[in-house]
Amino acid sequence: MKNKLIAANWKMNLSAVQSAELFKQCASLAQTVPSDLIICPPATYLQMGNSMLESSGVHLGAQNVNQNLAGAYTGELSASMLKDCGCAFVIIGHSERRTQFNESDEIIAAKVKAAIENSLTPILCIGESENQRTLGLTNSFLTYQIDSALSLVDKTQMKNLVIAYEPIWAIGTNKTPSIAQIQQTMTTIVKHMYKKYGENFTDSSVHMLYGGSVSDTNCQAILSLDVVDGCLVGGASLNFEKFEKICQASVKPSLVAAK
Ligand code: 13P
Repeated sequence: MKNKLIAANWKMNLSAVQSAELFKQCASLAQTVPSDLIICPPATYLQMGNSMLESSGVHLGAQNVNQNLAGAYTGELSASMLKDCGCAFVIIGHSERRTQFNESDEIIAAKVKAAIENSLTPILCIGESENQRTLGLTNSFLTYQIDSALSLVDKTQMKNLVIAYEPIWAIGTNKTPSIAQIQQTMTTIVKHMYKKYGENFTDSSVHMLYGGSVSDTNCQAILSLDVVDGCLVGGASLNFEKFEKICQASVKPSLVAAK
């Protein structure tokens, strides 16, 4: 069975001093929880994270990557630059980038390709709008997003992938789908991945995360679902006490009791 994977997306938050404190706390937290942790700080704190998380077992992730290898792309960072900073993961296709920065499906597919070809594991975000859910379009939209984002990489390259199901309407709103809805939707995604990749999917380390208003109070129920391999946490990852509770909730109850 896979370890649960808890990924923190700090978005555009925290000062250097606050980041250093949180990196330090997360590095020691990793010694006490059996889940795998990924921290995705703002790009300016990647180097700091790389040295502060060294040998803690916490992985470093970036929040964005440019799809080109190098060149005249002012303000952008390439996949190899992120590797140089110690990143193992990169968030791609977050709804905030899709909507606020006009990232098209084509751009997202190219970013996934650039990440994989540079040995960065994509944390591919997919998610429906409230309107799409109301219209009953959730499943077809999510499978479309997956197919489109993975269209430039072939089966054999699909060894490492994280898919984060983040309903747009649940991000930063304190609203989440019901546990039954999360189960149903994520099962659909997994079945689609099996159909698409067959054994490559089962044999590979594809992790399925839920994201969107994950908190210290709802994490236990969400993480108890077998189909959920972990969570992508936004706001609650900025508060160490809350983040710690979420990471502890990823421990099976029997293991907690045995400690
Ligand atoms: P919140 O946890 O703040 O809802 O954000 C989720 C998210 O967007 C993580 O990528």
